[in-house]
Amino acid sequence: MKLSVLGTGYVGLVTAACFAELGHRVVGVDKNPEVIAKLTAGIPTIYEPGLEELLVTNTRTGRLRFTTSVNDAMEHGEVVFLCVGTPSLSNGDVDLSQVDEIVHSIAPLLIGYKLIVEKSTVPVTTAHRIYSAVRRVVGDKHGFDLASNPEFLREGSAIRDFLHPDRIVIGADADRARERLLELYRGDFDCPILVTDIKTAELIKHASNAFLAARISFINMVADLCERLDVDVGTLARGMGMDSRIGPRFLEAGLGYGGSCFPKDIRAFTKIAEGAGLDFALLREVERINNERVPRLLGKIGQALSTIRGKVIGVLGTAFKPNTDDIREAPSLKVIPALKEAGGILRVYDPHASWNIARVHPPDDQLCYVASVYEAAQGANGLVVLTDWEEFRSLDFQTIRDLMRTPIIIDGRNLFTPQAMREQGFDYYSMGRSDAIAGSTGPEPARVGSGDLKSALPESPAYRSGQGT
Ligand code: UGA
Repeated sequence: MKLSVLGTGYVGLVTAACFAELGHRVVGVDKNPEVIAKLTAGIPTIYEPGLEELLVTNTRTGRLRFTTSVNDAMEHGEVVFLCVGTPSLSNGDVDLSQVDEIVHSIAPLLIGYKLIVEKSTVPVTTAHRIYSAVRRVVGDKHGFDLASNPEFLREGSAIRDFLHPDRIVIGADADRARERLLELYRGDFDCPILVTDIKTAELIKHASNAFLAARISFINMVADLCERLDVDVGTLARGMGMDSRIGPRFLEAGLGYGGSCFPKDIRAFTKIAEGAGLDFALLREVERINNERVPRLLGKIGQALSTIRGKVIGVLGTAFKPNTDDIREAPSLKVIPALKEAGGILRVYDPHASWNIARVHPPDDQLCYVASVYEAAQGANGLVVLTDWEEFRSLDFQTIRDLMRTPIIIDGRNLFTPQAMREQGFDYYSMGRSDAIAGSTGPEPARVGSGDLKSALPESPAYRSGQGT
């Protein structure tokens, strides 16, 4: 099938590359000529495992090409996917300006029948808004349909998620649209395909992300309880997850959710409910609990190092999750400035995201970026784990201990076993496990141990009220 993908961010690029890989002829559009030049040369603009191979192969065969011309894309595609960004406004509402802009530019170019498909995460009834905007331009002259086909890709495993999804959701109100999308997906995918109306499909996406975020905040709250009761949250989560009604995934306690999706989608879903006259207080609580995770970690760092001023701290991981270079809403964005402000000297390492974080926090006399965990450990008073990169799981701890000034690890992602770390000679702090308070005297939660760090903590209601640790 001839497909056009408007927007070459995460979703657009993965969608374009994967459909081309499945044999479709795909044109990807972006208004930034530099982005198009790179993609045309087979160079991905984001780090995503497997993406480069797909780009190179499919641009070479000609099944995939990129352009800045919306005109070209509209001539080419029978099905046109809208994959532009839908960020948050400061009040939590979704900023639909990019959607409006692209719709405004494609509407006059509609000739013959086209199916326009929302793939970006949008508030329920956005399709209606798009329909009205296009109709205003084309009147009754040209046939077109709208559909919603939300994506459920996770950064870091987006290619696999696209090619082997748990389910495909097709939201269409017209038979022709439904049939065309079924034709596109049938055959290549062996997962269930749920066909709904457009509004339901739009809502499924927001409800799914909100539910996953709620699981994460739930387990993080339980983690805090575990610390008080001397229980290991990992074992507890395993016990919960063995119940097939609960399942094991998205029960990893630690620093909470970040990234470009959950934080904005939780806020948007709360606002959507508000717009419909409902107070979705549960989601506000999910967000509040999530906002307390970084202050809690900072409290543990303060406790472990006594004082931050003048201490050398190795920071492991700056991406919001492993296998991506994305730092949007990553804990590192808060932890790095807080530790600097408290007087820490930071040696920061991330396998792929250092470049991105360095643009926000450039190196200076308190901050340098290094090329390995071992360099980060050199002369360090403590190591702080912020991202659960796989390579951190198989380190030579003997060497790390020898490199460090004091062998202290504060693990925001529960990567290691407390007992194993103790046996290797480390003071080890983690999230929601009894050993997180090793060295302290009882089942009280970790407290901020230094006045200097406390004053450097980012704005957080919980922290301001002194409950953040
Ligand atoms: C998320 C959803 O998982 C995708 O299904 C969805 O398509 C995507 O948002 C989107 O809306 O575009 P993503 O943000 O890439 O995907 O990453 P996740 O794997 O969901 O992780 C989100 C955050 O939750 C990360 O910060 C991760 O560290 C954290 N997390 C995840 C936990 O703290 N605990 C867990 O058990 C799982």
